[in-house]
Amino acid sequence: MKKILLTGGCGFIGSNFIRYQLSEYPEVSITNLDKLTYAGNLENLKEFESHSGYTFVKGDITDQDLVNSLLKSNRFDAVINFAAESHVDRSILDSGPFIQTNIVGTQVLLDAARNHKIERFLQVSTDEVYGSLGAEGLFTEQTPLAPNSPYSASKAAADLLVRSYVKTFDLPAIITRCSNNYGPYQFPEKLIPLFISNALEDQPVPIYGEGKNVRDWIHVLDHCRGIDAALRKGEAGQVYNFGGNAEMQNIEITRLLLKLLGKPETLIQYVTDRPGHDLRYAIDCRKAEAELGWKPEMEFHAGLENTIKWYQENRDWVNRIRSGKYLQYYDQQYGNRLNN
Ligand code: NAD
Ligand code: TYD
Repeated sequence: MKKILLTGGCGFIGSNFIRYQLSEYPEVSITNLDKLTYAGNLENLKEFESHSGYTFVKGDITDQDLVNSLLKSNRFDAVINFAAESHVDRSILDSGPFIQTNIVGTQVLLDAARNHKIERFLQVSTDEVYGSLGAEGLFTEQTPLAPNSPYSASKAAADLLVRSYVKTFDLPAIITRCSNNYGPYQFPEKLIPLFISNALEDQPVPIYGEGKNVRDWIHVLDHCRGIDAALRKGEAGQVYNFGGNAEMQNIEITRLLLKLLGKPETLIQYVTDRPGHDLRYAIDCRKAEAELGWKPEMEFHAGLENTIKWYQENRDWVNRIRSGKYLQYYDQQYGNRLNN
């Protein structure tokens, strides 16, 4: 797996994965195809701009001609699809872009991978496709898909498409499904980076409903290690779950964050619940442990402390996102070159 086409690499997990791959495997080269939506931040990978194993292509995964020409002019060993609209709340406001990118985009990539006989297609998916758990039980790879938000429905649709390409066309594809990630470079719209960024500015932290919903938190580097293991050791046609074995109610994690930040609990503000809000996610990742030799390594408190430290030290990164300045970086970096 030396030459990889990776999509969505300017987002949170994709940029962490690229950093991990290029530092772990000197022989690997990565082409990063990213549309640079609001969630794509080219600055996340600034340090690789002149790296010989890294190429950035601005473009949309739904653009069939572009995807096909990339696969035609490069002999990629693998395609890894991170690109997605990824925020549940946005999918409730407008599901359109979720259908386009998450479903149509995946179909375009699958067809191109099939036509160009790509040896490995890895679809980065989510535990949210399984729906919601009650107080007991864990999601296994056999749990039926029962998505409850437009986001998770679009990811489940993409997973089913991947499955169908395995069954119908023998496409050597793998699906990974991971629980909630946290860590550096996460866009400050998701719970952990939003609450850290707000609390650092003494702004309220908005908890949906009663804050009793449970998520299983995994450090992004553990997820990246899992995707890497699935890419190199996984079996075509299989699904692998990854989780952090760190279940927490939203109110618990919020109190912990405020404590670690030295901020008062008076910042907590209860707001109207998210419609269709899944109660609990929890992952059984014994298959990945047994078959890929993977397990989550980052202890949750240590991971959270590291993450807080990163946001404290990178307040400028958050400020540039909140002010919209990060969007200008592409023009600064590439505008003149494109005009030449
Ligand atoms: P993100 O929102 O931070 O980044 C998404 C990236 O995809 C951005 O760089 C964006 O510009 C790019 N993109 C969006 N539409 C595109 C298009 N049409 N063409 C090309 N690029 C496009 O997302 P993330 O949190 O890094 O998630 C990455 C993947 O992991 C997603 O598929 C998501 O469903 C999955 N996932 C995320 C989590 C999590 O906790 N964040 C957990 C499990 C699985
Ligand atoms: P989020 O980070 O959006 O991830 P997901 O919905 O994909 O699990 O939300 C994590 C949990 O935090 C979820 O139960 C919704 C809740 N939440 C809040 O209570 N307030 C917020 O402002 C946000 C963004 C999320």
